[in-house]
Amino acid sequence: MSRLHNKHIILAITGGIAAYKSAELVRLLIKAGAQVQVVMTSGATEFITPLTLQALSGNPVHQHLLNPQAEAGMGHIQLARWADVLLIAPASANVMARLAQGQADDLLTTLCLATHAPILMAPAMNQAMWHDLATQDNLKTLLARGFQVHGPADGEQACGDIGAGRMLEPNALVSAINEQFEQSLLSGKTVVITAGPTREAIDPVRYLSNHSSGKMGYALACSARDQGAKVILISGPTHLQPPEDVTFIAIESAQDMLEASLNVGAVADYFIAAAAVADYRPIMASEQKLKKRDADHGLTLELTQNPDILATMVQQHSHAIHVGFAAETEALIRHGQNKLERKGVQMIIANDVSNTHIGFNSDDNQVSLITASGVENLPLLSKQQLANQLILAISNIPNKA
Ligand code: C5P
Repeated sequence: MSRLHNKHIILAITGGIAAYKSAELVRLLIKAGAQVQVVMTSGATEFITPLTLQALSGNPVHQHLLNPQAEAGMGHIQLARWADVLLIAPASANVMARLAQGQADDLLTTLCLATHAPILMAPAMNQAMWHDLATQDNLKTLLARGFQVHGPADGEQACGDIGAGRMLEPNALVSAINEQFEQSLLSGKTVVITAGPTREAIDPVRYLSNHSSGKMGYALACSARDQGAKVILISGPTHLQPPEDVTFIAIESAQDMLEASLNVGAVADYFIAAAAVADYRPIMASEQKLKKRDADHGLTLELTQNPDILATMVQQHSHAIHVGFAAETEALIRHGQNKLERKGVQMIIANDVSNTHIGFNSDDNQVSLITASGVENLPLLSKQQLANQLILAISNIPNKA
């Protein structure tokens, strides 16, 4: 999984022949799943057209600081806040000088002052300009202020000189951006999530199921993925699109879900059971469609209990951290604490399903986090915001010894 998925990257291009490489850079960033906004100085537009970069990034190119039209869309402060990383590539000797002085006389320099995001720069210039004492002084100033400077590389230059001053190749710059996100909460971890309802067949056309939408489990899958995890989402039938960059396993019944969970359990660092698993299934699904009988004859279905997937995972893959949900209509915390112990999990996320504004099928949810060390009540949040909070809390659960 790319760490750049959904990350917000501003690519600022200044005037230099290496600007042609920036087109490839945008392409690679988009391919890695990043969202890219391109900023160009007027010098940059002499080397490569904004139209090319607009087509590759899928966003209009930002060129002017005081353009009422642009400010009505994403203004410069908004753009500065939007960025997770700002990369200046190529960075000319001129922009280095202006940044070293803290100028804010165009969009690029203003963004650099306004943003809290890390600023990376890939200098590119003639080797004599690079070695000039003024540029070297500016470099020292910028490094001391926290700018990260990548390159320049040595080699043959467009002007015919040989020496330091070539912009790093786009691949190397994408790696440099990737490194900014290395500290993701779950990088290197595998998270298995169950989601949605299960369907328990009565006959070839009928089943027992429930109203679970799958939204919570899918939101958790997206958050875990965005925190750098490899995510395996095992889902019953829902109306949701499988999230991108997530391994998706579609199942129908609780028994299918158990089998799929056991199959991947060995690689799981975390197992999060967000599915609403049917507690019972018909003892035998009829091979033929059941026929309606006389009006005075009812139909009795004999049910048997489904396996508890979460409890089975705790027993069979005890190395992982296990998290369950508890949907309760009363005594939320007491029932949640019982479940924590009974299932042997590290966290129960408890929510009150008697409140129709939260929980099943709604877009919002309010939960309490129950662990061996206590209870934490979270506020009412959208399921995606809640998922982000939950992934943060889950990633803080201490590893098993
Ligand atoms: O026991 P109860 O159904 O209340 O437990 C809910 C938690 O256990 C949820 O995390 C749910 O996904 C999980 N569960 C399961 N297999 C079952 C029933 C529940 O994994 N058969």
